Amino acid sequence: MAYRVLLLPGDGIGPEVVSQAQRVMEAVSAQFGLQLEFDSADLGGIAIDRQGDPYPSSTQTLAKSADAILLGAVGGPKWDVLPASARPERGLLAIRADLDLFCNLRPALLFPQLAASSSLKPELVAGLDLLIVRELTGGIYFGQPRGIETSTAGIRKGFNTDVYDEVEIRRIARLAFQFAQKRGGRLCSVDKANVLEVTMLWRDVVSELASDYPDVELSHMYVDNAAMQLVRAPKQFDVLLTGNLFGDILSDTAAMLTGSIGMLPSASLNADSRGLYEPVHGSAPDIAGQGKANPLATILSAAMLFRYSLDQSEAADLIEKAVEHVLDSGLRTADISGKESEFVTTQTMGDAVVAAISTLA
Ligand code: IPM
Ligand code: MG
Repeated sequence: MAYRVLLLPGDGIGPEVVSQAQRVMEAVSAQFGLQLEFDSADLGGIAIDRQGDPYPSSTQTLAKSADAILLGAVGGPKWDVLPASARPERGLLAIRADLDLFCNLRPALLFPQLAASSSLKPELVAGLDLLIVRELTGGIYFGQPRGIETSTAGIRKGFNTDVYDEVEIRRIARLAFQFAQKRGGRLCSVDKANVLEVTMLWRDVVSELASDYPDVELSHMYVDNAAMQLVRAPKQFDVLLTGNLFGDILSDTAAMLTGSIGMLPSASLNADSRGLYEPVHGSAPDIAGQGKANPLATILSAAMLFRYSLDQSEAADLIEKAVEHVLDSGLRTADISGKESEFVTTQTMGDAVVAAISTLA
């Protein structure tokens, strides 16, 4: 049986990093005798330019029939002049909502080889391995009403609505408990229950589930404290569960602890484990087309794709081992090199991972 994988290279460095990840997926599939069929479609700024819509119906059709989707990045200064409702980022939000990808997994794992690249002291981050479980299709990102209005007195007012119902909270919380069961057995739910009603409900619903998972130690933390703890003592965390906006912010913070946002993969899953996989970093228009981008976050996202959507955990393990091997060998892209002059290109890094896959298989 062939798996259908949809590539959405997107904007900026997206196409460069996705093409390296595609080569890695081909290499690993060859090793395990898996058949992958690739399609490619437009999402984000490129889709606006070519088809006048950041999530065109041609992309939607392919996305709905794919077994898994690998995305590069969307957005760039060229489209920043557009109104919020027409920007490339809207394409990303639309595909998340359309495929009901409510469960966003953002692991922050420090490769020991990169401890010196972390913004924190090596002893604070050595061995760091945490998982952020971010609710991705609700909360203030999607709540209604939203908008910018002008009053009769000519005063403009902007507003959004942070809203979760208990069904939405329960389905993401259950997955977070299950991930905690498979990992270190600790779940910390992050909210702002001292101020926001929506997160008071969040805390109540998460607490109600705890008795179903007696092997998981549940704690709660306010988001301001969680932000502080992430940069003070990040190793205290195993699984962090949070809503859409707090998850967006905390996952960028966690990324920096690991040395570079260029290293961090993510998965966005629906209830059937179909998913969209993407690096946590953005489109980095400042370095696009220069061969400077680090493809490892996208390559590691491809590993997650094999693990969660194709149920091929050995293929996933092999990709992750190949990445470690390449880091061991000393290869660094600019973002993780620490030295202005000594770094390899996106392509060279991709070549090295492909070579490591056949060496290690
Ligand atoms: C992310 C990004 C997106 C988000 C943007 C590009 C819409 O920052 O995936 O974290 O805010 O969710
Ligand atoms: Mg973000």
